Amino acid sequence: MTSERVAVESAKGVNGLEKIILRETRGSSAEVYLYGGHVTSWKNEHGEELLFVSSKALFKPPKAIRGGIPLCFPQFSNLGPLEQHGFARNKLWSIDTDPPAFPTNSSSKAHIDLILKPSEEDMKIWPHSYEFRLRVALGPGGDLMLTSRIRNTNSDGKPFTFTFAYHTYFSVSDISEVRVEGLETHDYLDNLQNRERFTEQGDAITFEGEVDKIYLSTPTKIAILDHEKKRTFVLRKDGLPDAVVWNPWDKKAKAMADFGDDEYKHMLCVEAAAIEKPITLKPVANLILRESSRVAEDPLLWSLYVQVS
Ligand code: BG6
Repeated sequence: MTSERVAVESAKGVNGLEKIILRETRGSSAEVYLYGGHVTSWKNEHGEELLFVSSKALFKPPKAIRGGIPLCFPQFSNLGPLEQHGFARNKLWSIDTDPPAFPTNSSSKAHIDLILKPSEEDMKIWPHSYEFRLRVALGPGGDLMLTSRIRNTNSDGKPFTFTFAYHTYFSVSDISEVRVEGLETHDYLDNLQNRERFTEQGDAITFEGEVDKIYLSTPTKIAILDHEKKRTFVLRKDGLPDAVVWNPWDKKAKAMADFGDDEYKHMLCVEAAAIEKPITLKPVANLILRESSRVAEDPLLWSLYVQVS
């Protein structure tokens, strides 16, 4: 009997929503819902789930899926006129059958390319034309990589500006045993104190209560150490200077309908983001002409790379 399994497979997920399953030969896997372009599962080669998804997550449009990796675009949080965290996380994405080549050669077979473009209805809410391409890839070591390529396709020559986050929910054994390294001594805006600016102390971050902070100009590498599980997540980000750290703790957990009362103990969001300095994209001068050579001319990649050991 051969145990050769396909690297990329389409399947029906919760409530019949379409999902893509990625499998790497050594046994790791990931799942991506077309609804939201949303990664909902990432498992290591032993089949252990590394992302947190709430047992109460709804998987019902237009509510975003609670857990996994929601995409916040084109607005983070309530920092603008749009709905909380923008609309990308509650739109139906499509499979991008002919994605432009990547500047770097990604050898992984286990990857999927998705695309989001606005409908006419969408343009009434955010009057811009864009192509948002997302690649989700599993590396040979079971590492997970998300790459976003966003282009302004406005025909009126107008630039647009957005904020962005990969809102990653990590699964942890016990939040009080978790430490985050790489953000110490950095400035942050405290969402719980009117986004006032503070400087983090010199020690690694630990958790004893609700946390909702936007760390600014952070290093490209951040580590999440889970002592009980003896597991370390190493997050590397590119093009995303900020990092949000969020845990709702008990009171807010109870107030969220799609989140279990005690689930805050088993999750931590560390989100690679561009918030303090929004990104402005000019339109592509001549989209048709550039089609064949656009990779070299398209240096804007926002990527998240997570390894676990
Ligand atoms: C975090 C924000 O990124 O997302 C928090 O910093 C927010 O303020 C949290 O509560 C969850 O947001 P939502 O819209 O998914 O409930």
